[in-house]
Amino acid sequence: MAKTVPSSTDPNGGSPRRGFGGLRVLSFESRLAADTARLIRKAGGVPIEAPALQEVPIGRNEEAFAFATELLAGHVDVVIFTTGVGTRGLFKAMETTAPREDLIAALSRVATVARGPKPVAVLREIGVPVTVKAAEPNTWREVVTAIEESPQAITMKGARVAVQEYGASNRALVDELESRGAIVTAVPVYRWALPEDLFPLLDGARQVIDRTADVLLFTSASQARNLVTVLGERGLETAFREALPEVVVASVGPVCSETLASLGFDVDVEPETHKLGSLIARTAEVAGEMLIERRSRLRESRPVTTAARATTPTTTDVNDSPFMKACRGEPTDYTPVWLMRQAGRYMQEYREVRSRISFLELCKKPDLAAEVTVHAARRIDADAAIIFSDILLIVEPMGLGLDYVHGDGPSISRVVRAARDVDRLLEVEPEESLSFVFEAIRRTRAELEEHIPLLGFSGAPFTLASYIVEGGGSRNYTLTKSLMYQDEGAWHAMMSLIARAVTKYLCAQVQAGAQALQLFDSWVGCLSPGDYERYVLPHTKAVLEGLPTDVPVIHFGSDTATLLDLCVQAGSSVLGVDHRVAIGDVFERFPGVAVQGNLDPVVLFTNPDIVREHAKRLLDEVGGRPGHIFNLGHGVLPATPVDNVIALIDAVHELSSRG
Ligand code: CP3
Repeated sequence: MAKTVPSSTDPNGGSPRRGFGGLRVLSFESRLAADTARLIRKAGGVPIEAPALQEVPIGRNEEAFAFATELLAGHVDVVIFTTGVGTRGLFKAMETTAPREDLIAALSRVATVARGPKPVAVLREIGVPVTVKAAEPNTWREVVTAIEESPQAITMKGARVAVQEYGASNRALVDELESRGAIVTAVPVYRWALPEDLFPLLDGARQVIDRTADVLLFTSASQARNLVTVLGERGLETAFREALPEVVVASVGPVCSETLASLGFDVDVEPETHKLGSLIARTAEVAGEMLIERRSRLRESRPVTTAARATTPTTTDVNDSPFMKACRGEPTDYTPVWLMRQAGRYMQEYREVRSRISFLELCKKPDLAAEVTVHAARRIDADAAIIFSDILLIVEPMGLGLDYVHGDGPSISRVVRAARDVDRLLEVEPEESLSFVFEAIRRTRAELEEHIPLLGFSGAPFTLASYIVEGGGSRNYTLTKSLMYQDEGAWHAMMSLIARAVTKYLCAQVQAGAQALQLFDSWVGCLSPGDYERYVLPHTKAVLEGLPTDVPVIHFGSDTATLLDLCVQAGSSVLGVDHRVAIGDVFERFPGVAVQGNLDPVVLFTNPDIVREHAKRLLDEVGGRPGHIFNLGHGVLPATPVDNVIALIDAVHELSSRG
C-alpha cells in the first residue's frame, strides 16, 4: 500500500490523506479530549471519546502548605517540578498561606528542576528562575541525569528534595533520588480520579469488546490504570483482554508504555516524539496495515467463530443432550445451563438489531427472530436455545391490541374487565394467526447446532389473564383479582379460553420443531395457595395434560415458594423455581421431579469471581443430584454485563463437570 499518510514529524500535517482511513480510534484523554478528537479526525480517523480520568484538585492541600512552610524556613534544597498544570496548582495552593513574593524569593534561593518544557514555561511566567531542565523524553531518568550533570554541581547526598507529584506518585524517581542519599518529600497537587460519568468509558470498552473499535490511544499511564480498574469492577476485563489482539494499542511515551506493559497490554506504537500530535500521526501511519495483517492471521488460526466455545457434544442426537437428559431426571456429564431472556437487551448485538426495528416487528420476522435466538445461545454457550418471541403475542389473535411502549413495557388495549368483555374474546387458531412463530422455530431449528435443544414457550393462563385484565404490568393485580373474586363464572370462562389457546399454541410449536417447552407463570406468586387451587390450578393442569407426553415441559413461576406443591400437582416434568427458595429443599420435597433454577439474576451485576462463587454454592446445594437444569431465578436483566453471563455459563460447565 502506498504511504500517503502525514509524516510523523508533521503531526498536524495538511489535509487528511490516507491516515487512519476511517479506522475507529478510542481516545482515553480527558483534559485534551476535544483536541485529540480533532487531530484523530484530521488524520482520517473516527474518534471515540472515552475519558478515563478526571483531575481532582486536592481541596485543602495540607502537603502544599507544609511544603511552603519548609521552603520559607530554608529547609529545602531542590524542588522538582514535573508538570505544567501541577506547577501552577502547587503555586496557587501555597499562595493561599504565604505571600507570593516570599514564595518566589524562596524558590529563587533553591535549585529548581523542570522535568520538561511545560513546567519551564509556568515557572518563567511566575517569575521563578529554572536551575536545571531535563532533556527529552522527560522521564525520571533524564530528571536524575540533569541534576547530576548540572553545572551547579548539585550534591544529592543529604539534599532535601521536594517532588511535585502529578497524579500517581512517581515511585521510580523517588527511589532513585533516595538511593543517591537525597531526603525526598513528595508534594501532591492533584490526583487522578475516575470520571464522574463512566458511561463514555464503558461504552468505549464495549466497542472494543464488540470489535467496533480499531485503535486504542493512551496519553497517560493513569488512563491505563483507571481503565483496568473499571473493567475489573464491571466484569468486563476478560472480554476486553480477549479483544486486544484485534486492535492496535498506541502509547504516548515510555512511562505510559511501561505501565501498559505491566498491566499486560502489548504496546504496538510509541512515537519518537512524546507528544499528542506525533502519537496520532505515527499511529495513523501504521495502524491500518498492522490491523489488516493481524486480523487476517487471527482468522486463519481460528476457523470457527464463537460457536467453537460450545461444549463438544459426544452425540448429535438432541435427545441425548445434557438438557434433555436432565429434564428426564437422568444423570449428565455436566449440569446443563441456559438463561431465561438469554436473548435480550443486555447483549450489544441484540441492541443493535433493536435499533433498526421495533420489538414487535422483530418477533414477527422469522429470519431475524431465528438469528437472534441462535446468536444468543452461541454467544454465551448455552445448553439450550429458547425461541425469540414473547408471551403476549397470543393476545392479538384474541382480538386485543398489543404494543410495547419504550421504557414502560407491554401495553394491551381493549382489555377485559367484566363478563361481557370475556364474551367478545376470540378463540385462537394459532396455525394462522401466529404462523410467524412457527416459521421462526423452523428456521431456528435449521440453523442451530443439532445437539442444542430448542425450547418453545407460552405464558400460563394466570399470567396471561393478568395482562389481559390489567392492560400491562401490575403491582397488586387489583383488577385481575377483583374479576376473579366477583365473577367466578366469567373468570373461569376466560381462563378456559386462554388455556385452550395456549395448549394449541404449544402443540403447534412442537410440530414446528420445538423439542421442549416452558410455561411461564411469572406473576402467579401473588396468589394464596387456596386461590391458586381454586382459580388457576384446573386451567394450568388442562394445558399440561393437553401437551405431548414425550416433550419435556418446564413449569416456571416466580414467587411461588408457597405454591410449589400445587405447581407440581399441575403436572409438569420440570419445576422452574425462582431465587427466593432453597433449591436443595425443592429437590428434597419433590423426589423424582427435575428442577430448573435458580440463581438470583442480580448476582450477574457483580464480577466473574463472585458469579463463580455463587454458581458453586448453588451447585453444591444441588449436590450433583440428577435432574437439575441450571438457570436464573428470573430473566437476565437488561443492564447485566455480558461478560458475567459468559462467566456464569463457563463456571457451571466447569464446576459441574463429572465426565
Ligand atoms: O430469550 C428469551 O428468554 C426469549 C424471549 C422472551 C422474551 N419475553 C423476549 C422479550 C421470553 C421467553 C419472554 C417471556 C415473557 N414476556 C415473560 C415471562 C418471563 C418473565 O420474564 O417473567 C413476560 C412476563 C413477558 C412480558 C414482557 N415482554 C414484558 C413484561 C416485557 C417488558 C419488560 C422488559 O423486560 O422489557 C416484554 C418485552 C420483551 N420480551 C423484551 C424481550 C427481549 C424486551 C423488548 C425490547 O427489546 O425492548
